[in-house]
Amino acid sequence: MPGPVVLVGLMGSGKTTVGRRLAGLLDRPFADADQVLEERAGRSVAEIFAADGEAAFRDLEADVLAWLLAAPAPGVVASGGGVVLRQANRERLAADDVTVVWLDAGPAFLASRVERKAHRPLLAGDEPAAEVLDRLHAERVPLYAEVADVVVDVEPFHRDEERPKRALAERIAALVRAHEGAAVAAATEGR
Ligand code: S3P
Repeated sequence: MPGPVVLVGLMGSGKTTVGRRLAGLLDRPFADADQVLEERAGRSVAEIFAADGEAAFRDLEADVLAWLLAAPAPGVVASGGGVVLRQANRERLAADDVTVVWLDAGPAFLASRVERKAHRPLLAGDEPAAEVLDRLHAERVPLYAEVADVVVDVEPFHRDEERPKRALAERIAALVRAHEGAAVAAATEGR
């Protein structure tokens, strides 16, 4: 049985919508990690940030990731953009049984796509979204690169494709299948 597939990338890269489509194409269950976290906590991400701070949110995020990756029926998981900040999460994502797909995009593109809504606490302050995303991009690119098995630049899809999310999901499904097939071949060879 193939292991879990986890989508990583900055806010606005399309993890949730593409992840849901990808799960459909691969015929696997889908989970949005932030949504699971909110259901378990009984509070929104914004409420948790406001009441308990970012570190408390990151603790919950790590618990949810570990729980989703241990699920009996592995599926496709859309993670929150900051999941790579914790080393323990990166170690879990880097494990052989997990296929990590990084939806890569530049900060200007992402800024044009995120709405400045209160549900994204890191974008809710006075600093312009473009500047926040610039900073997060610089900080996190090495961390996404550390865990990624598959990297997809999403911008050309949005520029060139009539139905970018569908095209992206189809491309990612092919790359995930190839990665899983190669992993199986390598494991068989090592036997
Ligand atoms: C965050 C991204 C958000 C959410 C939280 C923090 C981040 O998820 O987990 O607001 O640190 O980048 P999305 O990437 O799904 O917006």
